[in-house]
Amino acid sequence: MTPTLETARLLLRPIALDDAEQIQAIFPQWEIVRFLSLVIPWPYPADGALTYCRDVALPAMARGDEWIWSLRQKDEPARLIGLISLMKRDDDNRGFWLDPAWQRRGLMTEAADAVTDFWFNTLGYPLLRVPKAIGNIASRRISEKQGMRLVGTEERHYVSGRLLAQRWEITADEWRARRRASA
Ligand SMILES: CC(C)(COP(=O)(O)OP(=O)(O)OC[C@H]1O[C@@H](n2cnc3c(N)ncnc32)[C@H](O)[C@@H]1OP(=O)(O)O)[C@@H](O)C(=O)NCCC(=O)NCCS
Repeated sequence: MTPTLETARLLLRPIALDDAEQIQAIFPQWEIVRFLSLVIPWPYPADGALTYCRDVALPAMARGDEWIWSLRQKDEPARLIGLISLMKRDDDNRGFWLDPAWQRRGLMTEAADAVTDFWFNTLGYPLLRVPKAIGNIASRRISEKQGMRLVGTEERHYVSGRLLAQRWEITADEWRARRRASA
């Protein structure tokens, strides 16, 4: 079960089949996909978002393997501006993308904080791990701002090719201490 979450500026709504049309209109941009996993088809097909929502995202949520939310600003809730997801995997537990028109305003940091609380406090996992391409400065900055630790590097396959990636992680105790300190 994926609940709706709320931050100061955002609504995080569990992804639905109806979201496919808006995702298809925003997502297929090089700026968004270049540092995402190679599992994303590129060039992005005309039914890519529908296939993703219907055949990948919703079944993964129903199985309890993933929790995926669309991001909307509270003052314009009908408009989808990005996605954020949590994944029950060994080495890759969170992913996100945001419409470039809304980037660099701290919105994804806000969403990432909300789903990280959910990962540790509601789902009860002890550790959150995220790999990210070294060149992905914005994503790395979010890990830094969240107090995550850099634990290693490895090559990974991205839409833009095989790149050096950094592995970041944070434990539940570290996260809670950080949240208490900033409250
Ligand atoms: C990663 C992404 C979601 C960040 O969204 P966002 O809402 O812009 O993120 P925020 O504003 O919360 O934080 C981004 C931080 O990176 C910084 N940043 C962004 N681009 C930067 C750049 N080119 N150079 C230096 N810093 C940069 C911002 O200044 C901000 O840091 P600050 O708060 O210290 O100023 C967005 O860039 C995106 O959708 N990228 C494409 C998809 C992607 O790569 N997803 C992650 C895969 S691991």
